[in-house]
Amino acid sequence: MSELQRINIAGVTIEPNLVLAPMAGVTDSSFRRLIKELGGVGLIVTEFISVEGLTRGNLRTHRMMKFLAEERPLSIQIFGYDPVRMAEAAEIIQESGADIVDINCGCPAKKVVKGGGGSSLLRDLPQMERILKAVVQAVSIPVTMKIRIGWDDATVNAVEVARVIEGCGGKMVAIHGRTRVQGYSGRANWDVIAAVKRAVSIPVVGCGDVTTPSSALDRLRETGVDGVMIGRGAISNPWIFRQTSELMRSIEPYAPSLLEKQRVLHRYHDLLRGELPERALAGKLKQMCGYFTHGLPGGARLRESVFHSQTISEIFGHIDLYFSTMMARSAIA
Ligand SMILES: Cc1cc2nc3c(=O)[nH]c(=O)nc-3n(C[C@H](O)[C@H](O)[C@H](O)COP(=O)(O)O)c2cc1C
Repeated sequence: MSELQRINIAGVTIEPNLVLAPMAGVTDSSFRRLIKELGGVGLIVTEFISVEGLTRGNLRTHRMMKFLAEERPLSIQIFGYDPVRMAEAAEIIQESGADIVDINCGCPAKKVVKGGGGSSLLRDLPQMERILKAVVQAVSIPVTMKIRIGWDDATVNAVEVARVIEGCGGKMVAIHGRTRVQGYSGRANWDVIAAVKRAVSIPVVGCGDVTTPSSALDRLRETGVDGVMIGRGAISNPWIFRQTSELMRSIEPYAPSLLEKQRVLHRYHDLLRGELPERALAGKLKQMCGYFTHGLPGGARLRESVFHSQTISEIFGHIDLYFSTMMARSAIA
């Protein structure tokens, strides 16, 4: 059986079955469009968006929700606690033309947990049920949920949670294979993800530590999940979706040249320009450059120079010098 499949979520087709994970501060419209342009991704998810901000008309929150047609199919993720506000926010999302509304049940951040949202809902299934029912009733687009495997090691309850999601009309569940207490430490537990897949009949998407095309294929094969969601691996290697979909079709995965890597950093800047003031734009470029140059020879020195740069032209001065030096070296070798 080929791992390259499509997922159908109540009429929304995700093809291939590879999903860009929601990442606050990363998966804004510019990053999402960059990933989409590089190919191989079946669904992209926004950063998580506060239902409080959305339903109270906060301009910054509304800006976070903006997307372009070329990003579709697109899922907008919300977080919150109050079922009425969650339902209201879902209606706003539906009106925006998004394909899917996703509910965050995995965020470990103290601020979110204190408000009863994010991973806190894993400990409060009656409230999770109330939220899901209210949101499912409010919109006709599919409602999905992203969870962690549990609150802590002693309370791993992803199977039970997934059954609740299915029972309340959720159309897909994505699972990050760590507990809330784990944060991002240790390894993602794909055994629990596999158990969830066996327990429910809605599509299950697994997430956690997929950093190479072969690890994506391994997780699909080992667990039988319907799809794989990739987060950090897509920041350091934005071609990972294309490469994985090629590997799934037994095609030699694309290997980006140094020139292509340089081009993508410039392209990201082009996409960001006009969206952000110079200071914030420089911050984003530094962040991207940091992830992007991990493992490249001389990457640490480049990151250091970029980090201390004050302006965009200074940042690109370092980036362009680095890539031209590397290309000259590889031409000689
Ligand atoms: C910078 C960052 C921001 C994140 N923001 C969100 C978020 O807004 N919503 C969410 O559900 N998960 C969020 N996550 C978790 C990721 O979606 C994903 O589940 C996690 O990083 C594990 O996958 P990975 O090993 O492929 O990165 C975030 C992760 C990172 C690294």
